[in-house]
Amino acid sequence: MIRMATQTHFSLFHRFLHWTIAVAIFLALFTAFLHYGWMNGRAISSTLTAALAEKNITLSSDDARGIARKISRPMFQWHFYAGYVLTALLFLRFLDFFTKGRKFASPLSKEANSKQKLQSWLYILFYLALTIVLVMGLLLKFGPHNDLHEIFETIHIYCGYFIGIFVILHIIGIWLGENAEDKGIVSKMINGKE
Ligand code: HEM
Ligand code: HEM
Repeated sequence: MIRMATQTHFSLFHRFLHWTIAVAIFLALFTAFLHYGWMNGRAISSTLTAALAEKNITLSSDDARGIARKISRPMFQWHFYAGYVLTALLFLRFLDFFTKGRKFASPLSKEANSKQKLQSWLYILFYLALTIVLVMGLLLKFGPHNDLHEIFETIHIYCGYFIGIFVILHIIGIWLGENAEDKGIVSKMINGKE
């Protein structure tokens, strides 16, 4: 059982992991957003085909998709880089958990109040979703292209969306905490001091 570390101090390693995980997650979500929207392969190829048709230039759908992939791949490469970095950081986070203990209350503990329990369940669900999104992502990238590929993709995308929702709830929660009983919690996560 991962023991509860004393809640007095965020170590330098804990803070390093928090902010590097946060930056890598922002990058993974931003590139996913671009892949879903503005730099979506289908969207680029149809814009290309329509724009060239206006100049009486016909482009086969294969050529259009090929060019679209050339345009979006350099951007989406950073989605994979963020994923590889997150895989290493998550491994370090679990190492930190098992050696130094967790920094949030157990959601099952009798002492924890309902806000702490909700916060802890959100953190546990976040780490679960992050583990699944990374395993599915690596399977998508390096795994066999078989019937399971579509299932991996669906699980990957929905866990990715959950992480997006977690980040929004987390920042709202931190903001509310800073304006109520957790004043100074953000600076504690930056400089570690009480
Ligand atoms: C993608 C963005 C972010 C992710 C994924 C994230 C994730 C987390 C996680 C999982 C924890 C629990 C700590 C632990 O693992 O032991 C945590 C705690 C915390 N985070 Fe974030 N965070 C993000 C962004 C931010 C931002 C932008 C802020 C400040 C403006 C922030 C401030 C904090 C603070 C103050 C805590 C400690 C909360 C407490 O112990 O009561 N986080 N964060
Ligand atoms: C090693 C890690 C990762 C790999 C190899 C990976 C791989 C991929 C691939 C191949 C796709 C495209 C699927 C398609 O063809 O539409 C994708 C989409 C997506 N990924 Fe990842 N990913 C990784 C990490 C992450 C992380 C950490 C997140 C979220 C925090 C995430 C969220 C998403 C989302 C939301 C989409 C859907 C984008 C869309 O709708 O077009 N991925 N990922």
